[in-house]
Order: sequence, then C-alpha cells, then structure tokens
Amino acid sequence: MNLLSTQYDKYYKNGDLSIYNKRFGKVKIPTNDVKIIQSSFLKILKNDKNDKIKILDFGCGDGRYFETLQNLAKQTNRQIEVISYDISAVGLQYYIEKLIQNGFTSTQEIKKLKSSDKKSRLVSNLKKDNLIFKILYGYEKDNFNSIEKLIGKNFDLVFCLFGVLSHIQKKQNRIKYIKMFRAILNDNGRLVLTVPGKGILKKELRCYSFLRTQGIPFMDATEKGDLYYKPKSSNTNFICNYHHIYEIKELENDIKNSNFKKEYSGINTILFPTKLKNKFLSKIDEYLARIGTKILPKKIQNKAAYLFIIAKKI
Ligand SMILES: C[S@@+](CC[C@H](N)C(=O)[O-])C[C@H]1O[C@@H](n2cnc3c(N)ncnc32)[C@H](O)[C@@H]1O
Repeated sequence: MNLLSTQYDKYYKNGDLSIYNKRFGKVKIPTNDVKIIQSSFLKILKNDKNDKIKILDFGCGDGRYFETLQNLAKQTNRQIEVISYDISAVGLQYYIEKLIQNGFTSTQEIKKLKSSDKKSRLVSNLKKDNLIFKILYGYEKDNFNSIEKLIGKNFDLVFCLFGVLSHIQKKQNRIKYIKMFRAILNDNGRLVLTVPGKGILKKELRCYSFLRTQGIPFMDATEKGDLYYKPKSSNTNFICNYHHIYEIKELENDIKNSNFKKEYSGINTILFPTKLKNKFLSKIDEYLARIGTKILPKKIQNKAAYLFIIAKKI
C-alpha cells in the first residue's frame, strides 16, 4: 500500500483540476468551516493584544483555507503569520503557486518542492501586506521532536481541519498529537479540530466493526471507529487510507485527557462536504448544524458527516 503522503500527492496532482479539488471545491470550503475559523480568530483578536497573531494550519494540504485566512487578515493591522505544514509535497507546491498568483512575494529564492527532497523543510516564506505564510514540508516518519522543532511554538491558534487527525493511527498517537498542539500553543491559545463523524463511510464502519467483533480486525483497524477507505472509482484507485471515525464524547475526552478545556463542540457539517460545494446548500447545512448542535442529543449529533471542537488550554 502507498504511503499516505504519496496518496495525497496523487490526490492533489493537477492543481485546480486535481481529484481533490473536483471532489471538494478548490475554494469553496463549507460555510460552517469559515464560521469556525472566523470565530476562533476573532476571539484571539479580541482577547490577545500582541502585535502578531501566529497560526498553525496542521495538514494544510493545498491551502483550501487561504481565502478565509486572507479575509481575516484584512480585518486587522496586526501581523498574521500562518505556518502551513503538510506531508504532501505536491499539495504544498500548489499552495505556493496559489500564493504567488495572489501577489505574495518572497525575499528568498522559492525552491521547487519534490517529494524526494529530504533537505527542503522551510519551503517558502511568502508575504503580502500584514500576512505571512511559512510553508513547511514534513515527512510521514518524523518524530514529535523534529516536528516541534520545525514548526516552532507560541501559537495563538492551531487548526487541524477536515480529518487530518483521523489519519493518525491509534488513539494514544492521536492524543500525543493533541498534546503536542498544547505544548506549542500560548496560554490563551485555541485548538480547532474538525473530524469525520458516523455520517460518512457508513458501510466501511459497519464492515470493520463486524470484523472486530469476530476477532478478525483488518490490518491495524483494531479500535472502535477505525476503518480503511478505498473508493470504487477508477480515478481514485490509489487511495486506501486509514480513518478514525469519532463520536463527540470521544473527541471531548481526548481533548480533556490532553489538558484542554472544551469551549464549543458539535456538528461541523451534516452532509459530506462533496455535497456542500453549492453555497445555498452549504448555508442550509450550516444553519441546521448550528440548531442540531444546540438541541439534538449527542448520540444523534454523532451521525453527522463532520464534527468539530474548539478548545482552550487548561
Ligand atoms: C483530508 S486532507 C485535509 C487538507 C486540508 N486541511 C483541507 O481541508 O483541505 C488531510 C491532509 O492531512 C495531511 N496529513 C495526514 N497526516 C499528516 C501528518 N501526520 N502530518 C501532517 N499532515 C498530515 C495530508 O497530507 C492531507 O493533506
């Protein structure tokens, strides 16, 4: 089986025409994602008077949140530094091209990133007005020390969005990542996670849970919620990757066990984001997700496509 980074490299290949962008929309992230990013950013802007706001976009891919972050930066004179980190060299290369096309410039030479290039870690440092993007390339086998050393610390916000955490195998490892996020956040900082819920990959979830009850877990999908996803379509036959499907209580417990305090949690999107490229549908989904989060029992919220949590350090 391919490494996850190789799979994502193929997924992001061809930029705007990539399979990833065809599926999810190159700019159009669900409106509720925009809301979640905005509200956590505005909270920092209001409560934190530092000259600079430092953000980590962990597992940034090809930069789908770029427009949202750029719009937020326009709302302040403070300097916004976004550290964008991913293990997909191809995704990052498209991210850099997007920034250049949007008028971002670098004071240093911009190297072309290749998957095999083990030396390129700080790939680019691109700036426009008060917004700086540092694009960092990680390797799948990196240990926490080298990741921490690479991405730095004193973050005001850590975003780990759209299932990045769910690709980490084993609960204890996911908790290690959450603890690493805690270690690099400022005392007043916020962690924002969005993860898949039971509304997606239902067939796989049933099948893998059946295998577990029979004592024959496939590969290392050994824990409740673990599965492997392999789409049927011929143009995605390079994908076979691990996901952990969350329940809200579990997400809240993992956060708590990593010394975070939950501020908000609930439904991120009811529908799978491939359906939310239509702005009108996305708005309806956002509205229903907000109401659902307020009135539905957690058991039913768990059935949404994506869940979210915003947490603060204890
Ligand atoms: C579903 S994509 C989400 C990308 C982006 N956050 C978005 O919403 O478009 C998952 C991303 O997580 C990245 N990823 C997976 N495991 C990672 C890890 N251990 N460290 C950094 N990035 C990782 C993948 O390369 C991929 O770009």
